[in-house]
Amino acid sequence: MSEQDVDDVAFLTGDSNTGLHKRSIYEHNGVAVCSQKRALCIATIVFAVLFAISLIIAFAGPQNDCPCAGEKPANLEAEEDKESSKPLATNGEVFPWNNVRLPTFAHPTRYNITIHPNLTTLEIKGQVTIEFYVDKETNFIVFHSKNLTISEKMVQDRKGHRLKVAKLLEYPKHQQLYLELEESKFRKRGNYTVHLRFVSKLSSELEGFYLSSYITADGEKRYLATTHFEPTYARSAFPCFDEPQFKAKFKMSIFRDRFHIALCNMPVVNTEDAGFYMGTGLLRDDFQESVEMSTYLVAFVVCDYERVSEMTRRNVSVSVYAAKSMLPQAQYAVSIAARIMDYFELFFGVHYPLPKQDLIAIPDFAAGAMENWGLITYRETSILYDPVETSTIAHQWIAIVIAHELAHQWFGNLVTMKWWNDLWLNEGAASFLEHKGVNHVSPQWGMMDQFILEKTQPALRLDALVSSHPISVPVKDPSEIEAIFDAISYSKGASILYMLESFLCEDVMKRGLNDYLNSHSYQNADTNDLWAVFTKHSNHTFDVKAIMDTWTQQMGFPLITISREGNIITATQKRLLLSPVDNETELLLPKSPFNYKWYVPLSYYTDKEPQNVHNVWMNMTDVTFEIPTDVEFIKGNINQTGFYRVAYPEEMWTSIISTLINNHTKFSPADRANLIDDAFTLCKAGILNATIPLELSVYLLNERDFVPWSTALEHFSSWASKLSESSGYKRYLKFIKRLIGPVIRYVNWKDDGPHLRKLLRSNILHCGVWVNLEDVVKSAHDLFNDWMLKGKSISSNLKEVVYSAGIKYGGEKEWNYCWEAYQKSQIPSERRILLNALGQATDPWLLQRYLLASLDRDKVRPQDVEGVFAVVSRNQEGKLLAWRHLKAYWSKMQAMFGNGTFTLSGLISIVTSDFSTEYDYQEVSEYFKNVDVGGSQRALEQSLETIKLNIHWVNENVETINQWLINYLNEHAS
Ligand code: BES
Ligand code: ZN
Repeated sequence: MSEQDVDDVAFLTGDSNTGLHKRSIYEHNGVAVCSQKRALCIATIVFAVLFAISLIIAFAGPQNDCPCAGEKPANLEAEEDKESSKPLATNGEVFPWNNVRLPTFAHPTRYNITIHPNLTTLEIKGQVTIEFYVDKETNFIVFHSKNLTISEKMVQDRKGHRLKVAKLLEYPKHQQLYLELEESKFRKRGNYTVHLRFVSKLSSELEGFYLSSYITADGEKRYLATTHFEPTYARSAFPCFDEPQFKAKFKMSIFRDRFHIALCNMPVVNTEDAGFYMGTGLLRDDFQESVEMSTYLVAFVVCDYERVSEMTRRNVSVSVYAAKSMLPQAQYAVSIAARIMDYFELFFGVHYPLPKQDLIAIPDFAAGAMENWGLITYRETSILYDPVETSTIAHQWIAIVIAHELAHQWFGNLVTMKWWNDLWLNEGAASFLEHKGVNHVSPQWGMMDQFILEKTQPALRLDALVSSHPISVPVKDPSEIEAIFDAISYSKGASILYMLESFLCEDVMKRGLNDYLNSHSYQNADTNDLWAVFTKHSNHTFDVKAIMDTWTQQMGFPLITISREGNIITATQKRLLLSPVDNETELLLPKSPFNYKWYVPLSYYTDKEPQNVHNVWMNMTDVTFEIPTDVEFIKGNINQTGFYRVAYPEEMWTSIISTLINNHTKFSPADRANLIDDAFTLCKAGILNATIPLELSVYLLNERDFVPWSTALEHFSSWASKLSESSGYKRYLKFIKRLIGPVIRYVNWKDDGPHLRKLLRSNILHCGVWVNLEDVVKSAHDLFNDWMLKGKSISSNLKEVVYSAGIKYGGEKEWNYCWEAYQKSQIPSERRILLNALGQATDPWLLQRYLLASLDRDKVRPQDVEGVFAVVSRNQEGKLLAWRHLKAYWSKMQAMFGNGTFTLSGLISIVTSDFSTEYDYQEVSEYFKNVDVGGSQRALEQSLETIKLNIHWVNENVETINQWLINYLNEHAS
């Protein structure tokens, strides 16, 4: 970083569009009001021309060679003085602020940002003016900057007087700058501006301000520059106070080529021809000033896209931007986005406050989508829909992602969490509301039944580990923050809101949310603020905070054990842990402020009166209640709306199972899914004998609904990966073949019927391929050959099963054909299916080739590498190859995915958590002892715990399962 003094004129002249230049003329020199002073006027004109030229030179002129821009500083190690353990700045001086959090006395109010990303040299030139006020006297401020080279700096007071800067220090470890004044001080309640020029490079990782590219239909490579800032990457695009509570207004200007467009959170208000003076051909777009918002929601894109648009009912313009050849695939997104915006405006009772909403498909994108206010960025597969090629499940996913990010426009953007420890407020709420949004536009999709598949069940799975974490967790540094973007924040968060809604009622929830959004708009809130509005709108019937604290401030969830004595039922609660915990290890477990007791809204009905819903509260206690004597069983946790599990006494399980077998429709589809999920999980935890889930599964012979089948298939495949090395494995596959036989005939090969039938068909046929059901494999293989050899098209929902069968039961020829198709396809959803299918190969050479190809960015985009690992490791033949590959290329992966722990955490759990032998456990734990996993530590612990659990489960259950299968298959020989 340069410490040189700033040339006043050059700096000011660089700021044409910030208003700063104008103000300095009016306020200092009074030129505009003293028109007689002609000489001064002429000087002003000359000055203005000079200013324009210097502006162009600054942004468009030849780019300096700046070797350090955009790269990590070389001296990262020398960040601490070894003796005093004081932090050291890059110049060797002590960095006086030793806290990863910024001081709270300086508050930014407005940013004027001018930026020019050069898509040829990849250099970025930028300038930012931050207006801020301080609420106590101080001679320094601290803010964020990461991998930026600051070339000029200046501080002014409210009147435009310059304050001398004594030093500007950088501390890369905390990604901070420290700016100290020389003689004067920032006065208490004073307003100031800091002006900075900086250079950097477009990042090659998928964070900050980064480069992406795509190939046109004619094979030409095109580049775009785009941003992803959440949670802590705004600081690598421009210096800023990069914490969510520092809300400010943003006024952007972007230099671009004329064949490009520039997009930002707000619409363009003015475009200037900046090439007029220098012949650079550059244009500058000035954007309307934003509302008060957090830095992580700022976004800008420079690209050559086109758009399709629709209006909402209140005339907000909604557009989807995509590359020209992709535009037809943007039509679905734009029309449902407009309708979901209408729905959320009604549901929240708050208008969307910006003049436009843009959604844009970004070819290289780490997450699924990002809710930047007014400019939402999407991975291509999360937004582009082709009516012929895209499968029903991919279609549904697009609706979900669109609704999720739109929900954030209110929940997260308008009202933002104070700090990242409440990330769940953002993500849990959006994950809950996304289902409501889609349910509204596509009621026939049964989204609220699917909710338990997508949210409750996966969250319960993760949260039953000792190595889980509470929803509310203290986090400080960027890698800790990144690590909580996990199923606990998202899915457990969503599930407990669903539970809350089920006892508060939708109307109270709606009124509460309206109050919350109105009373904190353009501000920040925390979890307690949310609970307060719900308590208020339930007329204090519930102490929502007391209830919900037991769900957010301790990890895990209760197992409700039902016991019966005559007509008295006792329900007891105890934390459910999958890992066997003896008394000794129990003492070592993290303590909970609530001693692992919960306020549980226990719902149930009895077999005699299934329509009659009962609710009893377990107030961190157990509970007893009476049932009629003739009742055989109760069904607890109706439709799995509660975040807990239920264990029944053996005779109730027996009665439930025989009811399922005789007439399963006595239970709703969600209740059937719930019973399957609880039975398999309790077996996993060693609480229920494996014969119960097996006996229960037999009812599936009659099951024709998607939700229960989906739950069952999830458990079947989890058992398969654990049983795959046992002698009963073949018998187990035979049992599954038997179970799916009738439903296979029911779904058939014709890709038609209602939405949920299509989802069921593709899941079931896929299972048929997996267990090698002869008819399914044969039909799939025929369709594959017709496609490969005769160019016959395959219906969208059958593609997955057909490609998979073609590859799994084919050889190199089939694989190569799909690989070519993957490279050529311009349809993201088709590419996704092919990517999955390619991992089904059984030839180790092909799998190895696939893993190696995934290291080449020109063949597989980095964002898709996790997908490759996921399919290869789920493949019995590929499991060990994937693990070897992860070890062999660990450092390359680390470099590829940057500091973002998101993907690395995913990779660790994907590759290792299906292991189930002691040998594998030792290998994994030994390997990672010598590896810096950074923010993936918790993911690693969860994987190790899961492997241990698998080993234990296999030892305990393999024999029982085998014996049961022998008996069953003997008795039902066909
Ligand atoms: N805010 C997130 C994007 C994000 C994820 C930022 C991780 C930083 C780290 C966005 O709203 C989101 O949650 N996206 C989801 C999709 C959603 C439908 C669950 C995603 O990216 O998977
Ligand atoms: Zn989200």
